[in-house]
Amino acid sequence: MATQNGLPTHVGIIMDGNGRWAKRRGLPRKMGHRAGANAFKTIARYANKIGLRYLTAYVFSTENWKRPKDEVDSIVALLRSYLDEMDGYRKENIRVLFIGDRTAFDADIQAKMARAEENSKNATGLTLILAINYGGRAEIARAARRIAEDAKAGKISPDAVDESLFSQYLYTAGIPDVDLLIRPSGEYRLSNFLLWQTAYAEYVFMSGVLWPDFKPETLDEALAEYRSRSRRFGGLDDGDS
Ligand code: IPE
Ligand code: IPE
Ligand code: MG
Repeated sequence: MATQNGLPTHVGIIMDGNGRWAKRRGLPRKMGHRAGANAFKTIARYANKIGLRYLTAYVFSTENWKRPKDEVDSIVALLRSYLDEMDGYRKENIRVLFIGDRTAFDADIQAKMARAEENSKNATGLTLILAINYGGRAEIARAARRIAEDAKAGKISPDAVDESLFSQYLYTAGIPDVDLLIRPSGEYRLSNFLLWQTAYAEYVFMSGVLWPDFKPETLDEALAEYRSRSRRFGGLDDGDS
């Protein structure tokens, strides 16, 4: 779904390249994550300022637990302090949502997430969605499990399971599909991000930039590239029939 001003309704970003950014500077990887967190805060504000409706950022994948414990700990510590800053989002009219399995985190983090969502729930600006302990396959399997439970309990009939009902069982229920997916850092893959929701997204891979160096102008570049694309959704362009 694209809006009239040519802005995509929903942008997804795979915030990749923090480790390489740090390595190039001879710094520990955790410094890359810190710089990446700062880039993220700037981009979220900018997205709100230009009137973007939905921005989903890939913060931590279900596979990222494979990393060394001290790296995972440093990411969780950054998350904890960022959650404390989120009270300010209400003032900025940004609504915050989290997707992924948050039960893996300590109780205080889960409580902070719930508080950030509750505090900002009436905001009418950008909806900022953070994918944390998120995996696309885990999300789809979870939806299937919940549908099976509801069918078993007689709440829905198996015949009622179609694309629209399935979407309602995903973490992203009620959120429009991704229009534009951006990945910096030179990797050309989805890495298990929003598998269902990117079925017809436009992909913009930006190999010349690592996430901590991603600027509002870099987002503008991706948005310009998006505007130049012709989206057909399986149909034909106007005038081709
Ligand atoms: C992305 O940067 C952040 C997370 C996955 C948490 P990386 O840490 O993957 O950075 P590279 O890919 O190693 O450079
Ligand atoms: C994807 O990046 C996850 C996040 C950015 C949070 P990764 O760095 O984990 O992906 P791979 O391992 O290169 O596919
Ligand atoms: Mg990476």
